[in-house]
Amino acid sequence: MKTAKLFTATLMTLILATAAIADAGAAPTSLGEGAYTAEQAAAGKPLFEANCSTCHNADYYKTVFQSWRGQPVQYLFEQVMSAMPADKPGALLDSEYEVVMAYMFEILGFPAGDTPLSYSSGMMRDINIEPAP
Ligand code: HEC
Repeated sequence: MKTAKLFTATLMTLILATAAIADAGAAPTSLGEGAYTAEQAAAGKPLFEANCSTCHNADYYKTVFQSWRGQPVQYLFEQVMSAMPADKPGALLDSEYEVVMAYMFEILGFPAGDTPLSYSSGMMRDINIEPAP
């Protein structure tokens, strides 16, 4: 009886540990799971302040995320890439738009994670915009 209990406990620990490992390696499927890295947000801050802050503040993005909820992050990213900054659209590199977007997620309160936000990987298609937490 004792052995059976111990066995069950060991098995449970194993299952939980395996689930945790699988979780850490999996690509994020929501903004709540961490769809950018803290390094990206840090790199995006100065670019954001130089290119975006003059026209919008965090409250504006909150409204935008409300109205875009349920749409893939990729659509908003492509919209920003092609139309922003409004006075010089497309002026940034793809990688710069990625870190600017990461910083936007950060100021809205979405958590950072292990997977960098990336346009070319296609991961933005699988993550939907949701209202800021
Ligand atoms: C010169 C002013 C200006 C600058 C600089 C600027 N924007 Fe905008 N942005 C606008 C205007 C104007 C709109 C359109 C507002 C609307 O139609 O409601 C807009 C809209 C947006 C939207 C909402 C898009 C949509 O279709 O809902 C996002 C997101 C955005 N900007 C992000 C950025 C980012 C990121 C930067 C910096 C790379 C930036 N903006 C720089 C003026 C600016």
